[in-house]
Amino acid sequence: MPEIAIIAAHSKNLVIGNKGQIPWNIFEDKKHFKELTTGHVVIMGRKSFEEITGLLKKPLPNRVNLILSKTKNFSTEDFLNDDSPLSSEVKTFSNLQSAVNFAKEKYPDKKIFICGGEKIFEETISFCNKMYLTKIDSDFEGDAFFPKFDEKEFKVISEKLFDEIPPYKFVELERK
Ligand SMILES: NC(=O)c1ccc[n+]([C@@H]2O[C@H](COP(=O)([O-])OP(=O)(O)OC[C@H]3O[C@@H](n4cnc5c(N)ncnc54)[C@H](OP(=O)(O)O)[C@@H]3O)[C@@H](O)[C@H]2O)c1
Repeated sequence: MPEIAIIAAHSKNLVIGNKGQIPWNIFEDKKHFKELTTGHVVIMGRKSFEEITGLLKKPLPNRVNLILSKTKNFSTEDFLNDDSPLSSEVKTFSNLQSAVNFAKEKYPDKKIFICGGEKIFEETISFCNKMYLTKIDSDFEGDAFFPKFDEKEFKVISEKLFDEIPPYKFVELERK
């Protein structure tokens, strides 16, 4: 069974996003995301992908980027240019299960990271076997939220606290 993990950062009031952006800028969290996901498969919603490509002008490098959308069809060819070789694969799926199945079949040795947003986290929480959560200990204003889930179904594997303003912690959870 490959690792299918949610990776998310949420505030105390469960906000993950506001007006199409992540409402905080925590360098350590970006580094943590990069370290965990590089070399693996990332699955995300169309809006999150458009946010990333808007910022980076390319998909997440050194990762297989699988996008969920019923309205658009992104592929690797859309991001090829003569200046820099592309280190990512990009493919679009119209539902989560077909993206997960594709990843399991084509990349059985890679981990599958579910990167949001709201509905995709909600759909994944029932079957993921891990969660990497960054819990930010402050309330934020937002319009996209992390789902409430039964914490009794997961055990805490590790916790790392950062005494910053606001404080935050990395929590690794595994399904019991
Ligand atoms: N803090 C975090 O960890 C984190 C992580 C990710 C995102 N965010 C934030 O969250 C916000 C974006 O999240 P969001 O929930 O608004 O949008 P999203 O999940 O990134 O994108 C939503 C779109 O994804 C497609 N989609 C979603 N579920 C699908 C499914 N089951 N099958 C097929 N397509 C599906 C649809 O695209 P079509 O309309 O094209 O069909 C839908 O409109 C932003 O503010 C972002 O910064 C935060």
